[in-house]
Amino acid sequence: MRLQQQKSHQTTDLGDKSKMTLEKQISELLGNAKTIAVVCNQWGDTGKGKLVDFLAGWADIIARGTGGANAGHTIVVNGKKHVFHLVPSGITYDPQGKINILGQGVAFDPITMKQELETLTQERLSFDNLMISRNAKLVLPQHIALDRLENTPDGQTKIGSTGRGIGPVYEDHVGRRGLVVNDLLNPRVFEKKLEANLQHNLALLRDKNPDAIKKVLEQKALLSGRFYDSKNILNIREIISAYLKLGQFFRTMISDTEDFLATSVSKRKILLEGAQGFLLSYEHGTHPFVTSSDCSIQGLVKGVGLSEKDVERIFGIVKAFYMTRVGEGPFPTEFSGTKSAEWCRTHTRQDELQKYPNPDINITDEFEQGIAARVLGGEYGATTGRPRRTGWLDLPLLRSATRTNGPELILTKVDVLSGCERIKVCVAYKYTGMYYQLGNETLKTGTELTIANTDPNVLSHCIPIYREFPGWQKNISDIREYSRLPQNLQTIIRFIEEETDTKVRIISVGPERDQTIIRN
Ligand code: IMP
Repeated sequence: MRLQQQKSHQTTDLGDKSKMTLEKQISELLGNAKTIAVVCNQWGDTGKGKLVDFLAGWADIIARGTGGANAGHTIVVNGKKHVFHLVPSGITYDPQGKINILGQGVAFDPITMKQELETLTQERLSFDNLMISRNAKLVLPQHIALDRLENTPDGQTKIGSTGRGIGPVYEDHVGRRGLVVNDLLNPRVFEKKLEANLQHNLALLRDKNPDAIKKVLEQKALLSGRFYDSKNILNIREIISAYLKLGQFFRTMISDTEDFLATSVSKRKILLEGAQGFLLSYEHGTHPFVTSSDCSIQGLVKGVGLSEKDVERIFGIVKAFYMTRVGEGPFPTEFSGTKSAEWCRTHTRQDELQKYPNPDINITDEFEQGIAARVLGGEYGATTGRPRRTGWLDLPLLRSATRTNGPELILTKVDVLSGCERIKVCVAYKYTGMYYQLGNETLKTGTELTIANTDPNVLSHCIPIYREFPGWQKNISDIREYSRLPQNLQTIIRFIEEETDTKVRIISVGPERDQTIIRN
């Protein structure tokens, strides 16, 4: 059974001829390249899963290098929809001998991973070629508990994390007290490192509200209270027993993936799959409203143990022509600004659909236009279910991303705004805050910025300067050739390329695998 045909976006039967054409177009686009990467140039949720799946057909090896169960991609298996968080997006190609890798930079939560593999097993999908780096960072109950407790109003900066333990596990790694996956295979080492780690983390947990701790530890992600101890907060014996057992479950999958990848470079076709997005990178993004991994190409290559010089083509995904953000942090082009942010913080998808059953993308009220973009684009978190904040495409932020991720772009979800009469693209900002010293430059009200400075003290005082374009009416989901796209749409694409010095290589016009246009 060709398992990848079961994915939701692969239900269209293309027929051999058009399949060939698409494959040929991909190989023409990629030329002799052996190692390519797909990263997101925005705040994540740009349809990376579809593109990775699309390009996975070309690759022999698909490797993830950053993030963890905070990511989310939806796969329909045997007619049932499943949301996966940790398995690489190429997993449904596994039975064809393609190798899927979770690299050393991944935050590996063995409980979530085992659940995901069990789902694959239930659906009779195999994962024989899955490799997990022995150096991947091990997520433990204390990480998830701390992450979830920091999301409660206890005086911490609330950034709206996904509660998967991502921040705490990477903090422990950099703080030289973290555990890695390989420790699961060595009981004495595991116990010793766990004890040292808990000395630090139990002290942090003791500062939290005991009732809140109990509640969090009773959650399903923490095996419904298995690790809770009313005296010591965490039952260390239970953690040791559960995790060593998990180690045995994963034993055959754990290996030196860094060495494997390094020796495969230039011999096999490698696709590196980014997680989250550039603007969420702790290094380049809108710090502190970021995740705790470097989601840029730099973090990705490091996370799989390669170097940037090994990567011949980097494709940066851009959702067009709107953007989304989940959680807190500045978002200059957000439809109706803080009103939308507040709504998304406090409402669910159901609330939204009940109050706005037929949102109109051409409505003059910006707030409702933002809801329409969310509904049309299905912009609700795969991991958290939260409504994603929506806004117009922001070129100053894109310029900051392409500086690092390079000039080749993939536009996704381009079909979503078909029928939108006016498309606005943010070309620059007007700074409206107080005097602010940015290195040797002084910002004052009225200063114009064409490249975003991701410092939130700057970004949250930036008012977008827009260029407006007439939209297109036609449904574009069946178009497969660039030249057949409406002229108005081509004009906007050309404008973006000129403004950001980039080249759009792939355009996604729908969720199905074949709803993709390659522009050689
Ligand atoms: P964390 O990664 O769970 O620590 O969350 C930190 C920030 O990154 C929060 O604002 C999250 O909403 C955001 N975030 C993390 N993963 C994703 C993702 O896959 N898509 C969009 N936002 C994400």
